[in-house]
Amino acid sequence: MTDLIPPAPAPDAPAAEHAAWLRATLAQHAHRYYVLDAPSLPDAEYDRLFQALQAIEAEHPELRTADSPTQRVIGQVLDGLAPVRHAVPMLSIETETDTTAQGALAFDERVRSALKLTEADPPVRYAAELKFDGLAINLRYEAGVLVQAATRGDGETGEDVTQNIRTISQIPLRLMWAPMLPAEGGSLPPEGARSALGRPGGGTAPTLPAVPAVIEIRGEVYMRRDDFERLNESQREKGEKTYVNPRNTAAGAVRQLDPAVTAQRPLSFYAYGVGEVQGWDLPPSHAGLLDAFVAMGLPVCADRVVAEGAQGLVDFHAAMGAKRDALPFDIDGVVYKVDDRALQQQLGFKTREPRWAVAHKYPAQEQLTRLLAIDIQVGRTGKMTPVAKLEPVFVGGTTVSNATLHNEDEARRKDVRVGDTVIVRRAGDVIPEVVGVVLERRPDDVGEPFDLYARLGGRCPVCASPIAREDGEVDWRCTGGLTCPAQRKQALLHWAGRRMMDIEGLGDKVVEQLVDSGLIRTLPELYKLGVAKLVELERYGEKSAQNLVAALDASKRTTLARFVYALGIRHVGEATAKDLARHFGAMDRIMDATEEQLQAVRDVGPVVARSLRAFFDQPHHREVVEQLRAAGIVWDEHDGSAEMDASMLPLAGKTLVLTGTLPTLGRDAARDLVEAAGGKVAGSVSKKTSYVIAGAEAGSKLDKARELGIPVLDEDGLRALLGGQTPRV
Ligand code: IVH
Repeated sequence: MTDLIPPAPAPDAPAAEHAAWLRATLAQHAHRYYVLDAPSLPDAEYDRLFQALQAIEAEHPELRTADSPTQRVIGQVLDGLAPVRHAVPMLSIETETDTTAQGALAFDERVRSALKLTEADPPVRYAAELKFDGLAINLRYEAGVLVQAATRGDGETGEDVTQNIRTISQIPLRLMWAPMLPAEGGSLPPEGARSALGRPGGGTAPTLPAVPAVIEIRGEVYMRRDDFERLNESQREKGEKTYVNPRNTAAGAVRQLDPAVTAQRPLSFYAYGVGEVQGWDLPPSHAGLLDAFVAMGLPVCADRVVAEGAQGLVDFHAAMGAKRDALPFDIDGVVYKVDDRALQQQLGFKTREPRWAVAHKYPAQEQLTRLLAIDIQVGRTGKMTPVAKLEPVFVGGTTVSNATLHNEDEARRKDVRVGDTVIVRRAGDVIPEVVGVVLERRPDDVGEPFDLYARLGGRCPVCASPIAREDGEVDWRCTGGLTCPAQRKQALLHWAGRRMMDIEGLGDKVVEQLVDSGLIRTLPELYKLGVAKLVELERYGEKSAQNLVAALDASKRTTLARFVYALGIRHVGEATAKDLARHFGAMDRIMDATEEQLQAVRDVGPVVARSLRAFFDQPHHREVVEQLRAAGIVWDEHDGSAEMDASMLPLAGKTLVLTGTLPTLGRDAARDLVEAAGGKVAGSVSKKTSYVIAGAEAGSKLDKARELGIPVLDEDGLRALLGGQTPRV
């Protein structure tokens, strides 16, 4: 896909030409990598081009431009942030706190009445999007180049955070206006993008718009939940203070005085509006504006629709509410905007808020409640986790009465004590956690600082084995191994997990009974369970017993990667298990590999290698593997050379997007199959997408695929692809 990249200059062309070409090429690839999530170049090649540009700029400093990708992390530590007066005030938005459908109906009614519409008039069209939970930012582009970034502040005056914002790779330093010209030998951007930019659609040579003198892009800087969790995980490992939530962390990072610190924080951005604009006719609708942003190379959230009337809003609110936990970032609601710009103008403003927009909230993801006690749970690897017992509180859509405190050090750092009022956070599928204490509300009779060892008298609360903490580790562990019933239960639950052996019906309650009754002492014993034994368990019926036996049978056909992951080896997560399976191809080779051989696998370092060796050096663990094989668990193996031949796999080099519900394959299963066939599964549709696999109730991704002319297949089509056939589109 080099359509937007002009041909490289001749080797003897002037340095300025090489620099310009490298800048444009690097910007294109960065856009594909960071914005479209569809890299088109190996990292090493990107690095090579980047270094080539650095070398030219070192020799010819006059060629170093503000939009050069080498200039993202520059600038000095500031004494303070300079004020910036906004050319167009940054308004706030009215909030509808009624989290039921009523919130949407009330807004539509207000709009219709302000526009003097009657029942005879058609429904109003709304652009509906997510309300990102981050920090509002104004990006000022002059002649297409990012010249200033400012926070919202009080709406009239914000703070200059340009050097920090430049470090965010998703934010283009130059808008893709020029590269959208049909460069020599190049092709035009998709139809939608062109008409959105006010170009005559179709026809012959389109008249090309000049880059606008000024365009201010408004949007939200935020932090993805996985990035936030990773950041906190590394803080925990270092024994440093953890951050409370992604929003505060993002806001703090943007307002840093040292841009080098901001550059270390994984920030993301979504565009959702404009400020001052000179020299560009805005598209007539808000949805068209967002389409134009996409064409300019700006990240725009794909979860948006044009909704028809109140019912459209209610549907969107419900759909996004259902999807909220599965989104990779926090939202605190959705935003509805009257789509038609002319109608927006007609509606106008109240003092600080437009009448044409409203934020419709969801239940909060953080709440205050009282800490009643601290329990200690023993995990799969013997890890002791302090768990807060809370006065039940409704947070993030469910009632929470337990929340993790992670480990002793963290509980102490936060100085959490029984009787305190604490802040509980539950967002996405991350387990609820206590993120802080409200010290102002501490009662006089508050409990003592938390001391795990003293509390337990140095013994595991479940099996009474001694507990230990290795040097440099933050966690106390039970030394009882699988003799400890708590560890056995957790190991079983992990084994049964959806992304591991995927045994439906083997949940908390059954595992608890199986272990407590002594029915199961080792993993392989699971497969000896018959209906007769199961029905002896308390409140376990014939039907459930049959279902569980069937599920156990069905789970026996698996992949090597799932099997390795399911064993629950410390430090071996899903990604590592996949890498090991791909690299070694066979279980015996993994079990026999030396630490050195293990470290030849991508992302396997000394810690993981040592953990794997230690695991398989225990004869007991090898026996378990043998017994599981004997119980009939099977997976495909290869001779380890497949890694070299990955390009021979049917989906090598292909990127697929899954949308909707497939008739038989679950999401995870489909993803596994695609990956096993050498393909990649992406979250959003772009020009790089090879196929879209659509099931029932496929949504905007399907529309996008049609718009871009990407082949759309159903489950049968996917199976054909996996089998190396060319499917019928
Ligand atoms: S539009 C005139 N759209 O919510 C309307 N705001 O008070 C201006 N926000 O601080 C805002 N997601 O940071 C808009 N999709 C979205 C948004 C959004 C989050 C934030 C924004 C602002 C606050 C509104």
